[in-house]
Amino acid sequence: MNPIPQSHGEKILKVLENSVDLTFVSEKGHGKTVAVENLAKQIIQNPKNRLIVFESFPKWINEFPKASFMEIPQEWIIQTDKTIDLENTWIRHEKNYQLLNEDLISQFLRENKHCIFLVNSDDIEAIAFFCYSIVYKFYRRKYDMLRKGYPITEQVYFVLEEAQNSLDRFVLTKGLFNRYRKLFSEARNMGLHWILITQRLQDLSTYFRCRTSLAIGKISLDDFDLKIGRMLKPLGIGKGILDLPIGNFYFSCINDTVQFPKFETGKAKEWFPKRPNRPQQKQKESVLRDMVKGVYNFIFSTPQPKKPKGRLTKEQQKQIDEDERDEDELDEEQEFLDEDLT
Ligand SMILES: Nc1ncnc2c1ncn2[C@@H]1O[C@H](COP(=O)(O)OP(=O)(O)OP(=O)(O)O)[C@@H](O)[C@H]1O
Ligand SMILES: [Mg+2]
Repeated sequence: MNPIPQSHGEKILKVLENSVDLTFVSEKGHGKTVAVENLAKQIIQNPKNRLIVFESFPKWINEFPKASFMEIPQEWIIQTDKTIDLENTWIRHEKNYQLLNEDLISQFLRENKHCIFLVNSDDIEAIAFFCYSIVYKFYRRKYDMLRKGYPITEQVYFVLEEAQNSLDRFVLTKGLFNRYRKLFSEARNMGLHWILITQRLQDLSTYFRCRTSLAIGKISLDDFDLKIGRMLKPLGIGKGILDLPIGNFYFSCINDTVQFPKFETGKAKEWFPKRPNRPQQKQKESVLRDMVKGVYNFIFSTPQPKKPKGRLTKEQQKQIDEDERDEDELDEEQEFLDEDLT
């Protein structure tokens, strides 16, 4: 008996059910972006899901109206600390980066559920650093929530357009990205998922790519010969994959081909900061809450030994500020969850 043919929608759902992380690979113009936009439309139908897209070329902002976008100018990702290592008389320069305007980016993420970051930079290391910084922010918050015993309900899907830029195999091997690699392997337990899009599998860092399942369109002979052909051999897929028509992708997670439709598109909404970080009412409430807390602590707490006097270093002060901000965000999130439950 022939299997019942499945509609495209059902197959797309099956892909999402069967795979937490995906890599889309095909030649230029085969329809990777359109296919992932189809998946993204499906993903955001679930209110527990969040979509975060990173692109360095304005494509999603013109085609995906369901998200808001923010453009990151290249001056926001600055190169810092050139460490000079004089070991064995060799002089080594190590690059590091710093992200400016983190407050604005945090505000953008707080005020918008589905976000597109258009990273306006030509430096692939800077692009990789930016993506890593945002992913790390989510990772850290999930980690704090787990540590405090809150359940993780939200699922975050990161879409990395032209992932060969943000996950370049040479860039990602640098020490600067050690934590990124560790984070990527742990993230699946924290509701963080990746959808990578690339024209050539070989350019991607193997560490990332091999932890995802594949969605393969019409690929270049070079990629087929050097990598994909061998990978598909056990699945019984031959050279037929080189003739897939536009919009068709073979998914290794379901061992089936899905045809994605092209749909009507519109522009995403650009986000600009309009309000201060916190609404006025909330600020008043928290000032009042802090005062009550202060009086309570003054009356009931046991005297603490005095902290040794001394100036904090810039790094220590930054860490303290970050921790306080995270605490605030967690409190707000918990209030939001509590409101949802009542
Ligand atoms: N499912 C589809 N059905 C019909 N036409 C499609 C489909 N998907 C894509 N196309 C056509 O192909 C063009 C390129 O699509 P898309 O930008 O998604 O390709 P891509 O693989 O992401 O390309 P690139 O590698 O340059 O980013 C679209 O503008 C559209 O005209
Ligand atoms: Mg594309």
